[in-house]
Amino acid sequence: MFTIAVTDNYEQASSEAFRIMRAVLDKEHPVLGLATGSSPIGLYKKMIADHNSRGTSYKDCVTFNLDEYIGLPKNHDQSYYTFMHENLFDHLDIPEENIHIPAGDADDEEEECVRYEQLLKQYTLDIQVLGIGSDGHIGFNEPGASFDSVTHITALAEQTIKDNARFFEGKTDRVPAKAITMGLASIMRARKILLIAVGANKADAIYNMIKGPLSTDCPASILQNHEDVTVILDKEAASRLG
Ligand code: GLP
Repeated sequence: MFTIAVTDNYEQASSEAFRIMRAVLDKEHPVLGLATGSSPIGLYKKMIADHNSRGTSYKDCVTFNLDEYIGLPKNHDQSYYTFMHENLFDHLDIPEENIHIPAGDADDEEEECVRYEQLLKQYTLDIQVLGIGSDGHIGFNEPGASFDSVTHITALAEQTIKDNARFFEGKTDRVPAKAITMGLASIMRARKILLIAVGANKADAIYNMIKGPLSTDCPASILQNHEDVTVILDKEAASRLG
């Protein structure tokens, strides 16, 4: 079931997202599923500000990230490991051992997928933060990804490579071709989903996710089957919902 909030701008969208996150952080041992991309950055800024001003502690918090590029060393400036540390973890009191991100630089990537999924299965995510790709991907589950998928290796869709080239000096050939991602079934196990999308280039994906058929053509449409999904949008991303 979708609860949809259409906000005036990104700042408001981030405040609304933080309001939902805040309730989860009140739990004793929160387990957070986190995402990269530009969409959750405002939420992360608010989590940091709240940690600084109100002293909200992350010492008992465990996190799992959705995905990671294959082939980038952890310290690469575009690895999701670096992104998460720079945009969130380095500014909180979360112990490093409580942070889980798929190792895109593992010697055996298949084995890494199995390890990650097994670890993830030992927990229940209280919340999974999501962005959405312009092609409807969540995590790196591209169109065609199986609804039954767990953590796996995936090839990035052409559209995603184009979208993400902006982080690689605009050069599509610098974008890693593959990634490790939680699967759609892994994501669906979360108690609550919080999806943030802003901008006109997300309008089609948001429409297909909510109003389109349940179809692997739009991986995010699987969320139609989840009982607790909050979708936070700006007017542009919501423009096709009518
Ligand atoms: C990336 C990530 C996704 C993210 C998406 C949208 O490819 N793997 O998890 O949701 O892009 O990114 P943005 O929020 O920057 O639009």
